[in-house]
Amino acid sequence: MDRIRLVGGNKLNGRIPISGAKNAALPLMIASLLTDDTLTLENVPHLADVEQLIRILGNHGVDYSVNGRREKQNEGYSRTINFTARNIVDTTAPYELVSKMRASFWVVGPLLARMGVAKVSLPGGCAIGTRPVDLFIEGLQALGARIDVENGYVVADARNRLTGNRYVFPKVSVGATHVLMMAASLARGETVLENAAREPEVVNLAECLNAMGARIEGAGSSTIHIQGVESLSGARHKVIPDRIETGTYAMAVAMAGGDVLLEGARADLLQTALDVIAQTGAEVLPTNSGIRIKRNGHAIQPVDVTTEPFPGFPTDLQAQFMGLMTKAEGRSHITETIFENRFMHVQELARLGAHITLSGQTATVEGVKTLKGAPVMATDLRASVSLVIAGLAAEGETIVNRVYHLDRGFERLEEKLSGCGAEIQRLSS
Ligand code: UD1
Repeated sequence: MDRIRLVGGNKLNGRIPISGAKNAALPLMIASLLTDDTLTLENVPHLADVEQLIRILGNHGVDYSVNGRREKQNEGYSRTINFTARNIVDTTAPYELVSKMRASFWVVGPLLARMGVAKVSLPGGCAIGTRPVDLFIEGLQALGARIDVENGYVVADARNRLTGNRYVFPKVSVGATHVLMMAASLARGETVLENAAREPEVVNLAECLNAMGARIEGAGSSTIHIQGVESLSGARHKVIPDRIETGTYAMAVAMAGGDVLLEGARADLLQTALDVIAQTGAEVLPTNSGIRIKRNGHAIQPVDVTTEPFPGFPTDLQAQFMGLMTKAEGRSHITETIFENRFMHVQELARLGAHITLSGQTATVEGVKTLKGAPVMATDLRASVSLVIAGLAAEGETIVNRVYHLDRGFERLEEKLSGCGAEIQRLSS
């Protein structure tokens, strides 16, 4: 299993190109199931989760080519991928495939809308909470689907076509919003989704679906109107820059010090997090080509944060922010409201000398003057990169084990950081 070795202490200076967003690319890829035409996606990041979803879609009969080639050769990064679901050959998504990544459960929406049936294994993914699927089930039932949960599978039937309806999400869910938006696009009549997720990835998906011929209004607000259409066509669509990757590197610079341009980053996708980073004492300078982050000399100031659905502070940046706060000049409180078990990085940060106590859903971080390198273990995708952030400012060597978590969501992490002066490399085994 690969490991990452890093030696802390270097400032970061230079440029880091921001990749296409994993969390936008995955639902966009799944949208290819809605049409028998080709959906061309630009700026798709090269990540383990994307490769896994390609395998899952392939199982349903989706053909693909990367940068115009069928064979995977010299693919590079920021790829353009064509997805063609000419014939859906299988409406079952098996446990072996779905258990590796929660988002693959989302195929349930398009399969049901286009084929009238779907059988999808209950999902897996990061172990950050129970992550049920009740909202998906309830929402699809509201559109007229018959749903049974049998032997670990969600078995859905809408052979007489889904029918538009009003559905009020009892809780904001990004995934359930994606799925209901996709399903309702091919339903009979109008669907109104209330208390929908407002994340930029939802907007990116709605824009793609509209380019495919869907009639969706209001994505990005909490009420989304969808007029169902008979069929959707192909389209060409670009994946937005990754706001979580952007925030992660911004926090890395705030931690290590230095001056880095995050190329291609968009401030409007993570304004709350950027405001928080500025409060810690770093300079945040949006430019035409990206966002410049600087911190020279000033101590890191403690800031309290609470995670919230967009436009609030994202749960996917909570671990990284805690990494930054471990060296703040004082005490900060970090409250997690989205997932109930998303503090597994706390004990790993403690190995580096961090002082953190947990009480319910709030972590209290007492900043320390010095962190010291140590072997640590990545426990989930975002937690693993918080260890990298802490390691960048720790004295001596940090070894991050179980790097496969990082590979699910961060493209070329070592290359991007070492290009800015960090001492970091991958140890392959
Ligand atoms: C997506 C993101 C993930 C991010 C999360 C919250 C992708 C691929 N993943 O995950 O990185 O951390 O949004 O911003 O885009 N819930 C239910 N019942 C359901 C569905 C969700 O109770 O049927 C709960 C979840 O357990 C959680 C909350 O709703 O407590 C929000 O989850 P949700 O927004 O659905 O997260 P994901 O879409 O899985």
